[in-house]
Amino acid sequence: METTDVLIIGSGIAGMTTAIKLAEQRSDLRILVITKAAQVFETNTRYAQGGIAAVWDLDKDSYDAHFEDTMDAGDDLCDPEVVRIVVEEGPDCVREIISWGTKFDKVDGKYDLAMEGGHSANRILHFKDLTGAEIQRGLLKKAKEFKNIEIRSGIQAVDLLTQHHLGYSVTRGTPDITCYGAYVFNRDEQDTETICAKHTVLATGGNGQVYRNTTNPVIATGDGIAIVYRAKGRIENMEFVQFHPTALYNPAGENPDFLVSEAVRGFGAILKTRDGEEFMHLYDDRLSLAPRDIVARAIDNEMKKRGDDFVYLDCRHIDKDAFTAHFPTIYHKCLSLGIDPMKDFIPVVPACHYMCGGVKVDQWGRTSIHNLSAGGECTSSGLHGANRLASNSLLEGLVYAKRIAHDIAKTVDQVSHRDGIPEWDAKGTMDPKEMVLITQSLKELRDIMSSYVGIVRNDVRLKRASARLHLLYEETEELYRTTTLSPQLLELRNLITAGYLVTKFAGMRKESRGLHYTTDYPDQLDFLDVTIL
Ligand code: FAD
Ligand code: SIN
Repeated sequence: METTDVLIIGSGIAGMTTAIKLAEQRSDLRILVITKAAQVFETNTRYAQGGIAAVWDLDKDSYDAHFEDTMDAGDDLCDPEVVRIVVEEGPDCVREIISWGTKFDKVDGKYDLAMEGGHSANRILHFKDLTGAEIQRGLLKKAKEFKNIEIRSGIQAVDLLTQHHLGYSVTRGTPDITCYGAYVFNRDEQDTETICAKHTVLATGGNGQVYRNTTNPVIATGDGIAIVYRAKGRIENMEFVQFHPTALYNPAGENPDFLVSEAVRGFGAILKTRDGEEFMHLYDDRLSLAPRDIVARAIDNEMKKRGDDFVYLDCRHIDKDAFTAHFPTIYHKCLSLGIDPMKDFIPVVPACHYMCGGVKVDQWGRTSIHNLSAGGECTSSGLHGANRLASNSLLEGLVYAKRIAHDIAKTVDQVSHRDGIPEWDAKGTMDPKEMVLITQSLKELRDIMSSYVGIVRNDVRLKRASARLHLLYEETEELYRTTTLSPQLLELRNLITAGYLVTKFAGMRKESRGLHYTTDYPDQLDFLDVTIL
């Protein structure tokens, strides 16, 4: 059994920034960051392309404008107080990571502010089309300055420790559920360990891997959300799954799908059908730069109407030097598939990209479980509402990390380690005999979610999805009870829970709003009592 003052699960922007901000304030605390990936930088954060939204040039932009754009994209479901907090505290957080060493592109000595869909001003700071990798690099370098931050890779959180593990019955109605740390699976040792912590932070990212096509890396299996749901914590807004309009169409198939950043459309690229016709004017006045939900639905509709597998992005009119300077990774990826963006159309399709819902947190990142905070994509903070505005995710990660660290620094001394936590009990389990039981279920899950709970939904599809997911759930729980743990089994279990939550929340929302569109209830209701599980 290992003890630490603070356990942070996840090494992306939310986890690493929380660790750094806490270490700055409290050199006396032991801060342990774990990540299940073999490499600490293997995160969603590292793949971010477009950039980070922040009001920078107050002559041409304003907090009110960023506030309005975020509220507008969120389709009346954002929490206005949270939007104010993130928009107004964000720029200082960005200045801070710049002071720690993160670089953003400049033109003539000034930051080069890009445009993306749904924004009314140029406010996206970026580093070529590799913004996330640059941020991740800067954070990992900064974290090394603190002796009290330890990062362990290959360590996968399995479940939170709560009163349940002390023999008490814990239900969704139990008040004062408290977290004492986590059971974790050591991937190298193939063994389950116990980590007791005074305070635990979940920063586990999203669950894009629940769909067949996703821009999310393979780590994005909804672990934090499923873990909190199993611990009877509160989850919300899971129906709002963001599909990015423009993942590169690759007939050979790859996981993850390669993203063609929204910033390419911000740079002038135009969406066209396979016969070369523009179509976005049929859907929104903002054309190719309308918010993502609208563009993704428009593409989905055009593809279905025409029976096409993709639409095109036309960049041929853009200056080659400017394009290659801004988007070197995208340019070379296209060339590797025989597509020259300066001469050919780029084939693109929508792909699952971001989870707007998740673990419900307050303005300080506190969850409904005591001594458990959460930050970043695994949360539902109230910032994104029914649809996230482009490049607001990295910003949310920074602002909430600062707030969580501040909160823990003040409160952690009132907490003691909990005695009496039992070690993980693997009695009665056997080594899995056939991996196909896991891999085939994963394939089925992703097919079910993509066919029935995708961009366009209806009650019949959701009912079908529920029935099939239930079967997968029962089979996987049986496997979990009888076999020794493996990373694949743990992830499958979490993905099934994430899929179940998306389907359940989608079924409860009897209207269309933001990213949730159902043909049975195409209109938006004036008032809907949002249900929290
Ligand atoms: P992540 O960065 O995903 O980190 C999650 C961490 O948790 C990882 O270290 C992972 O290994 C770990 N983990 C997960 N489960 C476990 C477990 N059970 N045990 C231990 N560790 C675990 N947003 C923007 O604002 N601007 C952009 O330009 C942008 N571009 C994007 C491009 C792509 C291709 C993608 C996929 C996303 C993009 N996003 C962008 C979204 C943004 O990158 C993510 O929402 C954000 O980085 C999430 O950060 P995070 O810290 O919450 O999680
Ligand atoms: C992109 O570069 O298009 C992704 C931006 C985002 O997800 O916010």
